[in-house]
Amino acid sequence: MAEQIKILFLSSEVVPFAKTGGLADVSGTLPVVLKGLGADIRLALPYYRIIREGGFKTDLLFNRLEVPFGREKLSANVFVTETEESIPVYLIEREDLYDRPNLYGNSMGDYYDNIERFTFFDHASLKIAEALGFRPDVIHCHDWQTGMVPALIKGPYSESSVLSGTSVLFTFHNLGHQGIFPVDKLYITGLSADKFFHMEGLEYWGNISLLKAGIVYSDAVTTVSPTYAREVQTGSYGMGMEGLLYKKRSILHGILNGVDYRLWDPATDMHLSANYSLSDMTGKGQCKDFLIQEMGILPSLRERPLIGIISRLEAQKGFDLLEEIIEDVIALNVGVVALGTGEVTVQKAFENAVKRYPGRISFHTGFNEPLAHRIMAGADIFLVPSRYEPCGLTQMYALRYGTVPIVRATGGLNDSIDRFEPRTGKGNGFKFIPYNSSAFFQVLCEAEEIFRDKKAWEKLMENGMKADFSWGQSARRYLEIYRSVMDV
Ligand code: ADP
Ligand code: GLC
Repeated sequence: MAEQIKILFLSSEVVPFAKTGGLADVSGTLPVVLKGLGADIRLALPYYRIIREGGFKTDLLFNRLEVPFGREKLSANVFVTETEESIPVYLIEREDLYDRPNLYGNSMGDYYDNIERFTFFDHASLKIAEALGFRPDVIHCHDWQTGMVPALIKGPYSESSVLSGTSVLFTFHNLGHQGIFPVDKLYITGLSADKFFHMEGLEYWGNISLLKAGIVYSDAVTTVSPTYAREVQTGSYGMGMEGLLYKKRSILHGILNGVDYRLWDPATDMHLSANYSLSDMTGKGQCKDFLIQEMGILPSLRERPLIGIISRLEAQKGFDLLEEIIEDVIALNVGVVALGTGEVTVQKAFENAVKRYPGRISFHTGFNEPLAHRIMAGADIFLVPSRYEPCGLTQMYALRYGTVPIVRATGGLNDSIDRFEPRTGKGNGFKFIPYNSSAFFQVLCEAEEIFRDKKAWEKLMENGMKADFSWGQSARRYLEIYRSVMDV
């Protein structure tokens, strides 16, 4: 039997501990599936306030572990907890850095010391591995928060008796977040300017980019869908990294994220007022009734399409298109229920729409996991009109809930949604290609028309509910890539 592969999996958010978006969903499930496939996998996280308050059972692992920080050393207490599947999760305690209301920032913007916070997290994670004598075959890093790790392995840790020469895989989940900091902060990382701060290194237009560090210094790079892996090599989607990513194309892979059906399945979802499945759909009607009441939608809209939205409210997500055509959408006599948090301007646009069309549009701001599940179940249509979308998970969740996605054909949305053809009965949703409101409105009208044909709509829901986006195949792809970087 092949020896058990050892993985140190580093991500700044992981379900059920801390979450702001899909990264946490992926980091909560992929390790579990990898463990099921035989991997020895371990995680580390900053001991954020939200985790401290989460009631997890923890044990002290290291008292005052010394961690390099700039020219000094700071200490951290390290606790260990376990997921339900007995995966160890090391929690790095440093109250001055992590005992804050949020993970990354507040309404004033990102925390001013994020490079310090995540440098510390990265170094501490490596120091934990050293202190445990845990020599991973691969360190799997995610997004800019851990982008420095591959550079650290090539730099300060190249002499480490435990970690020298360890292979690193870097996965980027969104090129919109590049971890850019002024060069005078470089000393905090412990990386030497001579060796690392240049165009072929982590220098990015005179600044540091930790995302770029991740891409440059890793043995392989993945992103979260095949389409996004192609898109990012072009000027329209590369966000300045397209040249580098094109150069790296032989080690750049697109692997579609999967769904955790233990959490996202209407047959077992504990947040719903009624459960349902393909064999008995009555619960879905009850969920719709409940949602209409909860969100204050006019009861007269009961038989009309109810459109659901659950999203970070950022320019990426494309809700400016909805704003442009909101009058026409409302004229279709539909209801809209939205849940989101993010940029103030996008939030304001939703609030204004609610004022103009009370009872037709309802908007709930904040991060609300139970409500997200109730919208998934109670809506008929789910909107994801993104300008770009590396993978997108909500459209795949929606499919399982019989809630038909309308998406823009980009990134993982393009890879998971196929246009419904009433003639053949094939397809699981609707998608539009050019990023403009008339293309968007056209597919909305198409969906509204098919909604009136009960038989066709049922077929469409059935196609979605039967689709299988579970993690198995994608997790095996990651294992293949781990093995390929171990051999380099
Ligand atoms: P992204 O990671 O870009 O935000 P994804 O579709 O990959 O997009 O994942 C978003 C995840 O965050 C989903 O699990 C979704 O249900 C959840 N989510 C987004 N906004 C909220 C919110 N306001 N309340 C609860 N869950 C949310
Ligand atoms: C990012 C992307 C999203 C993706 C998620 C998980 O937040 O915006 O498209 O699904 O990461 O990979």
